[in-house]
Parts: sequence; C-alpha cells; structure tokens
Amino acid sequence: MKKVFVKSYGCQMNVYDAERMADMLATEGYAETKAMEEADLVILNTCHIREKAADKVYSELGRVREMKQEREAQGQEIKVVVAGCVAQAEGKEILRRAPAVDVVVGPQNYHNLPGLLKRAKAERVVDTEFPIEDKFDHLPKPSKAMIQNRGVSSFLTIQEGCDKFCTFCVVPYTRGAEVSRPVSKIVDEALRLADAGVRELTLIGQNVNAYHGEDASGSVWTLGRLLHRLAEIPGIARLRYMTSHPRDMDDELIAAHRDLPAVMPYLHLPVQSGSDRILDAMNRKHTGDEYRRLIERVREAQPGLALSSDFIVGFPGETDAEFEDTMRLVADVGFASSFSFKYSPRPGTPAAEIETQVSEAVKSERLTRLQNLLETQRQAFNHGTVGQTLDVLLEKPGRHPGQMAGKSPYLQPVQIETDCHRIGDIVTVRITRAGSNSLFGEVVEPGSQAAA
Ligand code: 5AD
Ligand code: SF4
Repeated sequence: MKKVFVKSYGCQMNVYDAERMADMLATEGYAETKAMEEADLVILNTCHIREKAADKVYSELGRVREMKQEREAQGQEIKVVVAGCVAQAEGKEILRRAPAVDVVVGPQNYHNLPGLLKRAKAERVVDTEFPIEDKFDHLPKPSKAMIQNRGVSSFLTIQEGCDKFCTFCVVPYTRGAEVSRPVSKIVDEALRLADAGVRELTLIGQNVNAYHGEDASGSVWTLGRLLHRLAEIPGIARLRYMTSHPRDMDDELIAAHRDLPAVMPYLHLPVQSGSDRILDAMNRKHTGDEYRRLIERVREAQPGLALSSDFIVGFPGETDAEFEDTMRLVADVGFASSFSFKYSPRPGTPAAEIETQVSEAVKSERLTRLQNLLETQRQAFNHGTVGQTLDVLLEKPGRHPGQMAGKSPYLQPVQIETDCHRIGDIVTVRITRAGSNSLFGEVVEPGSQAAA
C-alpha cells in the first residue's frame, strides 16, 4: 500500500483540509503515515499569514529535497505536493525556488489532487485557479474508522474566505471571498461525525460568525441559528466556533451563548489592537470601547464566559502610546488565553506599503511586554479554576497508567485519575491543582455523561 505524509502549518482550517486530503487519497489507495521517511507522497499544507510561516515551507522543502534524492538513488519514487495558502499566493514561483516540488495546489483545488498526481508523472503542475464548483461536493466521505481514529473532538468547516480586508491580512487574497456551505451539507457532516462517536464540534471558518448559509428552501441561516440545529444532534455535547470578527457578533449568536448549554462558554474574538487609530488603519471598523461593550454583552448572556484573542504589535506607525492602549485593553478585558504576533508585512496587502514601519527591536520589546501580561492572565485564569467543578471531555489516555486526559469547557487540558471511564465520556471533575499547562482533578460522581 502506498503511503502519504501530510504536514500542516498554521490554522485549524489547514488541519481540517489535511484530513480531507487524507480522506480523498485513502480512496486512491494511500494510507496515512506519521513518518515522512516512509512516505511515497509528501504533502506540505502551508500557511502564508506571516513571513516566518511562509519561510518555514522553504526550509522544510530543502530537507524534503535531500530525502527525495536519497530515495531516488535507491530507485524509489516520491512525489512532493505543496498545498495551502503559500501554494495559492506563490503558485509557480514555488516550482522555480524548490526543485523537489511536483505539484502546487491551492486551498480551493485540492479535490483535484488525484488527477494532478496523474499529470505529475509527466510534468510539474500548478492548480491555483479559484474553481466555480464547490470542492466539498467532490470530496469523499471519511469512513467511520477514520473519524474514530481522529478522536472525539472534530473540526467542521462551515465557511471559507473573508471579505473584511483588514489591511495587514493575506487571507482575502489566498482564501478568496466569503462563502458559506449550505445548511444541509453541514448538518449531514455533523450527523456522520456524531454517529462515529464525535462529542465536540468546532465550527471553523476564516470569519465564521459571518456565516450566512442557505437551507433547502433558500432561506439564509445565521451562525446562531445553525448552532441551535447542531445542538439537537444526539451525541453532540459541545459546540465551539472560530475565528470570529467583532463586527459579526449579532444578537442571535450572543443569545445562543445564553440559551444553548452545548455552546461552550469560551469565545475566541480577535481584537488585534486597543488603539482606535490603529484599529482604523487596520480597517477593523470598530473601536476599543465598542469591543469592550460587546464583551460586556456576551458576558451578560453567559456570565461564565472566558475569552481568547489575537493581537498584533508594531503595526506600521504604532506609537508607544498606541501600544499602551493595547496593554490597557488587555488589562480591562482579561483573557484566558491569547495569540500575539509581531506585525509582518505581507506582499500585496495595503499595510505593507505604509512607509512608517516599526523597527524589529521595538516590535520585539512590545511583544515581550504584551506576552508577559497575557501569560500572567492565563496563569491567573488557570489557577482560578482550582477548587471549581468543571465538565471534562475525555479525549485520550493520560500520561501515566490509570490516568485520562481531556479538556475543560475553556479548552484547558485536564488530567484525571480514573480506570472506569472511556474516551468520549464527559465527567464532572473537581480541579485540585494547576500546572503550567495542564490542570489536575478528581472525578465527582454523579453528574458525568457517558459517551454513546
Ligand atoms: N502580521 C502579523 N500577524 C498577522 N495576523 C494576520 N496577518 C498578520 C500579519 N501580517 C494575525 C492576526 C490574525 C491571526 C490569525 O494572525 O492576529 O487574527
Ligand atoms: Fe484577515 Fe481575519 Fe481580517 Fe479577514 S477578518 S482580513 S481573515 S484578519
């Protein structure tokens, strides 16, 4: 049997796409392997969001080339595919820079992989046109065994692309315009996942709360309405969604946080900056105070809400005072966990053209200060859960025999001692201790919900 190795970089959407590529290649006779050295087909599913992410691809391709040459010297043939957003953005430039690459395929075209691999026997190929058809209609359904192999928590793409055009971001160019999948396709996929034992769905999309998919009668559903439908599926106990834009948090979605116990009290809502001038220059179309008020409204709906966010420091022209506005917003809102980045100029985006770029040294200094504050908040949040009783979805065996590992509603890893529970059970746990990354706890009975 032929073997395929897929390495994904970047966001959850790439993790999901990598699984879809593996599903499709399974029908072509490929088994997935975790070891690149034994693969007949190597796929790098790439990320273009920041310069560092894109650079990683080329250094990895250097290593892949050496491996390919060694294998070819032994008479074995391997094919190398670059997929994802670097493929979309750089296209045939990749063939020029990386001689080992046989196929370049964009995120909207990977359903064509079997045909592209056939063509690649004779020539190097690039497929990055935005197609008219929906790739999801051409992808095979994963088998129950494949779903089970991937665990009880699953991603589900409901929307792709973005129309917001934040001035720093490549996504509208690499992933294209905002497109929502139809309601029936999403529900079918969710039913299949639930039938294979999945308990938690994370609905993903570049701008997932802008969801506006049609149902069979042609009426348009919001994310709030979709959450209500998915919450009815037997077996699905937890719903999450990411990534969202503050401007698309509508009343129906906020109400879903209040009305649906399955919607986890955890929201990833990127704010990027706390400075109104920078937010305007980023084209975010909201102010720092509007974000604060929005968070208050979601907290009113769900008082147990914990937050996570994305931040960019050193956006072109950001002054010390403007950076302090970001620090103040973080102090005001309080985040359980966050991602923060130095601004990275991306070719073709408006912000890359601004002349007042911030120096590397200043960006590094600001990032360290921001990350120290966010880390303090994360630790405080984790320590604050000690003594609380939380539901934990068990996902895998723990580090030691007799232990299992799962996730709290706030995505915190939790280790518990148990030998009478199964993966997929949701157990009620009293948190006894917080380590630097994991929580530890003991099961409180009754209260636990067994897996189906
Ligand atoms: N530079 C730095 N960070 C960026 N992000 C997006 N584009 C850039 C860029 N050019 C960050 C944003 C976004 C997250 C996915 O990546 O914070 O929310
Ligand atoms: Fe990029 Fe998100 Fe802004 Fe869309 S909303 S342009 S994906 S940062």
